Amino acid sequence: MLQVTGVCKSFAGPQGQKVLDNLNLSIHPGEYVAILGITHSGKSTLLNVLGGLVRADSGSIVIEGTEIGILSDHDLTSLRRRRIGFIFQAFHLLPHLSAGLNIALPLQLDGVPRTEALQRAQELMDQIGLGDRMLALPSELSHTHIQRISVARAFAHKPALVLADEPTGGMESEMGLKMLQVLREQLKLNHTSGILVTCSLEAARTADQILVLENGQLSPFQGQIG
Ligand SMILES: Nc1ncnc2c1ncn2[C@@H]1O[C@H](COP(=O)(O)OP(=O)(O)O)[C@@H](O)[C@H]1O
Ligand SMILES: [Mg+2]
Repeated sequence: MLQVTGVCKSFAGPQGQKVLDNLNLSIHPGEYVAILGITHSGKSTLLNVLGGLVRADSGSIVIEGTEIGILSDHDLTSLRRRRIGFIFQAFHLLPHLSAGLNIALPLQLDGVPRTEALQRAQELMDQIGLGDRMLALPSELSHTHIQRISVARAFAHKPALVLADEPTGGMESEMGLKMLQVLREQLKLNHTSGILVTCSLEAARTADQILVLENGQLSPFQGQIG
């Protein structure tokens, strides 16, 4: 469902180094891959490029048969909204909206009728064990519950691919691992492909497969990093 071939990305600057250097990656439908890398190895850059938030300098990224490099900004945004879900560390819930509305809002913005959007939100809240907390405001929820809801929200529109950028902040507490468990459950339940980038081996172990990002390229994990 995702085929990445020879992707390069550099940033202008004194070093001008290649963050992604001829990178290849292939992900099947429903497959969950973790990408392990140290700080500044290019993990966020890779996810931003795969999610169409940042354009690659060269190479090919094909998502469900569509080469995203040739899409207009408008079409790329549209593909991202429909087919990709993001989970970022700093991707907070809106404080003045209930948990249910936080999940339903992106759907409504995309034209899904309110009743249908709220039904989907209820379904997700049930799946993450918070079915009776639809009306709770973020301030009334524990941090663990907020984490779970922010994972569920990324699945509201049934994306083909979910991209998670160090959602637990690299600190693999029990709480963080519970969040990753919810991520894994949702990926399997929705038959969604997932990419988790992290600097934590413990977090990476929740995936089906672990790759290492080093010198702008990916390779299979051999037991150690750095
Ligand atoms: N928008 C940007 N402009 C210039 N340099 C950037 C930009 N984004 C990332 N970089 C550089 O690219 C490298 C990789 O960054 P990043 O992808 O954030 O790594 P990671 O997420 O693994 O910590 C770093 O050296 C960083 O300084
Ligand atoms: Mg990062």
